[in-house]
Amino acid sequence: MKIKFLKKIENKEAVIGVIGLGYVGLPLNLCFVEKGFRSIGFDIDKIKTDSLKSGKSYIKHISPERIQKALQTKLFEPTTNFSKLKECDAILIAVPTPLNKNREPEMGYIVSTCEAIYPHLQKGQLVVLESTTYPGTTVEVVVPVLEKSGLKVDEDFYAAFSPEREDPNNPQYTTETIPKVVGATSQDGLEVANAVYSKIVVRTVPVSSTQVAEATKLMENIFRAVNIALVNELKVTFMKMGIDIWEVIEAAKTKPFGFMPFYPGPGLGGHCIPIDPFYLTWKAREYGVATKFIELAGEINRSMPDFVVQRAMEVLNEFGKPMKGSKVLILGLAYKANVDDDRESPSYFLMEKLEAKGAIVEYNDPYVPVIKPTREHPHYKGKKTAEITDKYDLIIISTAHDVYKNIDIEKLNVPILDTRNLVINVNKMVFKA
Ligand SMILES: NC(=O)c1ccc[n+]([C@@H]2O[C@H](COP(=O)([O-])OP(=O)(O)OC[C@H]3O[C@@H](n4cnc5c(N)ncnc54)[C@H](O)[C@@H]3O)[C@@H](O)[C@H]2O)c1
Repeated sequence: MKIKFLKKIENKEAVIGVIGLGYVGLPLNLCFVEKGFRSIGFDIDKIKTDSLKSGKSYIKHISPERIQKALQTKLFEPTTNFSKLKECDAILIAVPTPLNKNREPEMGYIVSTCEAIYPHLQKGQLVVLESTTYPGTTVEVVVPVLEKSGLKVDEDFYAAFSPEREDPNNPQYTTETIPKVVGATSQDGLEVANAVYSKIVVRTVPVSSTQVAEATKLMENIFRAVNIALVNELKVTFMKMGIDIWEVIEAAKTKPFGFMPFYPGPGLGGHCIPIDPFYLTWKAREYGVATKFIELAGEINRSMPDFVVQRAMEVLNEFGKPMKGSKVLILGLAYKANVDDDRESPSYFLMEKLEAKGAIVEYNDPYVPVIKPTREHPHYKGKKTAEITDKYDLIIISTAHDVYKNIDIEKLNVPILDTRNLVINVNKMVFKA
């Protein structure tokens, strides 16, 4: 079974299925096509598969030309037809792993995907989970559902975990140039999974188990969450002392060893850093362990929008205005610079908190012209981006989109509260938070 699989990979005869054509799954799917593999992309969202079939992209940093080129090869097949899973040799899963209302892992997407796979599962297939999750998921959740097919893991099919390290819109690192960690439930499983990924990435990093691979991803994201919390705490502390944290970071990062810069902001956003650490917190409870560092980091990071609101009140006060009734424009709804991804964005929390204090709040984001339905902030659905004009009492820079660097502050003459150190203080109208 292994030899046959490896041969198919080597000869590029293997068919690669990718389930979940989002920020992670779509570039992965395209990578295999670009390396000469037939690659079928599965999604339950027909709008997405139809859009891809007609050569359109729904992700800003993935160009329509790239989709059209993939379609021309006839190797790229976006579909909602899960019976085509039978045609795949490897099935890679990249579906969402959010938290539920109680901040516990929401495993529904993974479970329903595995439920959709098992009726089509074939002997000799490899199934790899890529979604970020707690250690144990592949063995405890994925394999039992797949075995409902009557097939046995490592006798009839292979199971593996390989975390995604995608950094959307980072021109320095793409799917191909980021090393990929791979863990499987057996040595043969590891060899076949490793063979699949070594065809598309610069380097694979085989590890001894799926649990190690799952834990590696969480460690990477927890490292970021904790360090961002630390720098956020330092920002508040230094600000009270009249010291600019941004200048401190620039100076500190000249140390050639033992320091890595992290940057403060209005809070955490995106599908990863605010969520993933709590997958471990939840699992750790099963072992009677309290993950205090993670909890503390979460607490500090979640308090940052309150800090920005406090600063907003102080700035308005300097201009003799109360928060109640003031018009506030938030620049940037995406959670990070130059992307169109607004999931978990701190800008939403800022909007809600400012409105709760009586402000009239609008947002501007060239990459999010209209707010799509969100799970946490459904009331903002349909709200549209506003023009940057002088009709506001305060403008808050929440996302460091490059386009905001060109704002003519002199002409605008509106106080600006900058949470990203984006603009230079030209006329005493720029404040930091
Ligand atoms: N976005 C990132 O930068 C990033 C980076 C590293 C890891 N991850 C992880 O990768 C996973 C996917 O994240 P994403 O950002 O690509 O999510 P996404 O929301 O952009 O995409 C997920 C896709 O899965 C589809 N989907 C949902 N349920 C499905 C089902 N049952 N069957 C088929 N398709 C289904 C959705 O329609 C959507 O197109 C998550 O676990 C995330 O934590 C994301």
